[in-house]
Amino acid sequence: MGEEVTRKEDKRFITGRGNYVDDIKKPRMLHCEIVRSPHAHARIEDIDGSRAMALDGVVAVLTADDLLEHDLATMPTLMDDTQDVLVNDKVKFQSQEVAAVIATDRYVAKDGAEKVEVEYEVLDPVVDAEEALEEDAPLIREELDDQEDNHIFDWETGDKEETQEIFDAADVTVEEEMEYQRLHPAPIETCGCVADWDPGDDKMTVHMTSQAPHAHRTLFSQVSGIPEHKVRIVSPDVGGGFGNKVPIYPGYVVAAAASYVLERPVKWIEERSENIQTTGFARDYDMTGELAATEDGEIQGVKVDVLANHGAYNAAAQPSKFPAGFFNIFTGSYDIEAAYGSLTGVYTNTAPGGVAYRCSFRVTEAVYLIERMVKVLADELDVDPAEIRRKNFIPSDAFPYESATGWNYDSGDYEKALDKALEMADYDHYREEQQRRIEQDADKLIGIGISSFTEVVGAGPGKQCDIAGIEMFDSADLRVNPTGNAVLRVGVQTQGQGHETTFAQIVAEELGMDVDDIVVEHGDTDTEPYGLGTYGSRSTPVAGAATAVAARKVRDKAKSIAANELEAAEEDIEWDRESGEFHVAGAPDRSITITEIAAGAYMNHPGSEEPGLEATNYYDPPEMTYPFGSYIVIVEVDRETGEVDFEKFVAVDDCGNRINPMIIEGQIHGGLAQGIGTAMMEHVTYDDNGNVTGGDFMNYLLPTAKEIPNFETGHTVTPSPHHPIGAKGVGESPTVGSPPAIVNAVVDAMSHAGVSHVEMPMTPDVVWESLDEAGLAI
Ligand code: CDP
Repeated sequence: MGEEVTRKEDKRFITGRGNYVDDIKKPRMLHCEIVRSPHAHARIEDIDGSRAMALDGVVAVLTADDLLEHDLATMPTLMDDTQDVLVNDKVKFQSQEVAAVIATDRYVAKDGAEKVEVEYEVLDPVVDAEEALEEDAPLIREELDDQEDNHIFDWETGDKEETQEIFDAADVTVEEEMEYQRLHPAPIETCGCVADWDPGDDKMTVHMTSQAPHAHRTLFSQVSGIPEHKVRIVSPDVGGGFGNKVPIYPGYVVAAAASYVLERPVKWIEERSENIQTTGFARDYDMTGELAATEDGEIQGVKVDVLANHGAYNAAAQPSKFPAGFFNIFTGSYDIEAAYGSLTGVYTNTAPGGVAYRCSFRVTEAVYLIERMVKVLADELDVDPAEIRRKNFIPSDAFPYESATGWNYDSGDYEKALDKALEMADYDHYREEQQRRIEQDADKLIGIGISSFTEVVGAGPGKQCDIAGIEMFDSADLRVNPTGNAVLRVGVQTQGQGHETTFAQIVAEELGMDVDDIVVEHGDTDTEPYGLGTYGSRSTPVAGAATAVAARKVRDKAKSIAANELEAAEEDIEWDRESGEFHVAGAPDRSITITEIAAGAYMNHPGSEEPGLEATNYYDPPEMTYPFGSYIVIVEVDRETGEVDFEKFVAVDDCGNRINPMIIEGQIHGGLAQGIGTAMMEHVTYDDNGNVTGGDFMNYLLPTAKEIPNFETGHTVTPSPHHPIGAKGVGESPTVGSPPAIVNAVVDAMSHAGVSHVEMPMTPDVVWESLDEAGLAI
């Protein structure tokens, strides 16, 4: 623990030996290409696949009618909606799946898809959430009984009356509207699978880009009717997931159905634009935030109202009891007496989604809201944004702390993290420099943005959190071999986070082994224990805990074997974490290592114990963990062009006890890059006809090395009191915490001229407009 162990998995990645889904080639394998609708809202009149079938190499053209025969025409979403696998009657978003061509070669399949002729009756689409609620808006989900408009659900949290009373009596109230734009997780590897039905064994094997292989196996079994023990999901190396690979997509179902019907393996791999335009998007929340405070800056109440665009189906990926994910953590790091939030979910003619893009189910939107609002209040009261935070933080001695919306924070020391960040950022110096530039009417303004965020990660507990009804626990299965090395199997699934190293470090720490003597296996439902997968930074809080508990169970058994080997009573055997050895109490020289114990377990086991040395743990966390941090961003805003340059980017994180600081640093760097993409560049846009205008990498801009500044990272350590090794998750903190810090910085450069908000993505034209409106443009 705490060692910068080099990533074990990197040898295979940097020598080109990674094994991704598209690397898999099977004898007699066919390829699947999806025919997609050019229209966002249209009735299908006719589909003619004859010209495609005439192509040499095309084996089949599948439509909804073919799937209906096998009861596979629709599939459940994770929020209990029903989505067409191939459009049955009416297209509901551009690029929706209409038909599939199966061919012997990928290029032939692609040519075939272009030759499928589809007749459409084009209907008026509605892509904007507000317009979708208007009375004369086209009805998108006509097939649903009782659905008379595009409204999906209303959700509320907190105490409305109490909050209103506080607002009515407050010295000061502020309000701001802000949009968290539609984003796409955009992992480097798109989604895909190789489905292989074996009629000999009646078994379906699907190699797929899955963040949750076991949950996907259960869902596959439920959708297809193939018994679960006859479905095997293998998620090999995965090139990034970020929440995009949690849902089931029609492509998987079509490939599996085709393999079943044709009795040959079928591969389906998305193109980039298919991935951005049709698979789970993230965010798309229109929010109005309000704060009530005393005139000296004590925040007393918070209100928020949200309009959530869910696309054509309610397919958000979040625990079923949380229709707004973990948005109700919007009181953030602050001790606020009263809070009330309301949200309306809406269907539109856009791709379905609402996945947790590198975040814990909408915590990102919540953090953005509260951290932006604190800056709005600071400007209104003309107080320093660092000071107003300090004044309102939940005090470090108030943990465990229950928030006004019912979250139980485990531990935190927010002031310590902020102080560290302020010092690293040379805050006072930049405040002076900012003033100097204003006074000198300089061409470039300085802005300083702060975000002191709190995350909530590590879902379950199982009673609160589930995927399609399956409780969110996780698991570890540890076997020490006769020669003293070990295999750890876990229910979570790495997509690049380094689990093969950090999980081995946990076992090494708990048993006194060498990290290189532990191999970590994941991603194969035939061999791994059942788990709910990796998203929401849950791996360390849940499967990391399961790993530590399984290792401790092995250690307990090891004691009895040690007693046998050392000819002592079991109660006299002590484990020494420092040396990693077991010894007889009071006689440190009578000691034995885990390697010797392993030999004893298989070759000389005590009659009182079963042979072998292994243990399994299914861990249902008692609570979530609450990592936090303070980020300070200093920008230069060019009054002539609206361009924003990062002058300094400081990130202080606290994820409790740290397993591998180097891996944590990598996680922070990657997440900050994604936060910069969010704040400055990324947006899935639509025109009024429902055409996706931000659906490829020419138009959906990702940051590159050129846009990324030098990050200065720091940390504090506040262990989680309930996690077996005191760790909290960390992978998502930077994506969650950085966008408000960046926006706060850009606003701060202009707030002396009355600017209170700038919408993301803050491209130069958007910033220039704010400069212009504030009379600052030159
Ligand atoms: O669920 P996911 O793996 O995406 O997120 P995580 O649990 O935050 O872990 C990301 C990586 O950071 C993993 O390799 C963790 O084991 C590592 N980590 C760590 O070294 N120490 C912590 N306190 C938390 C995470």
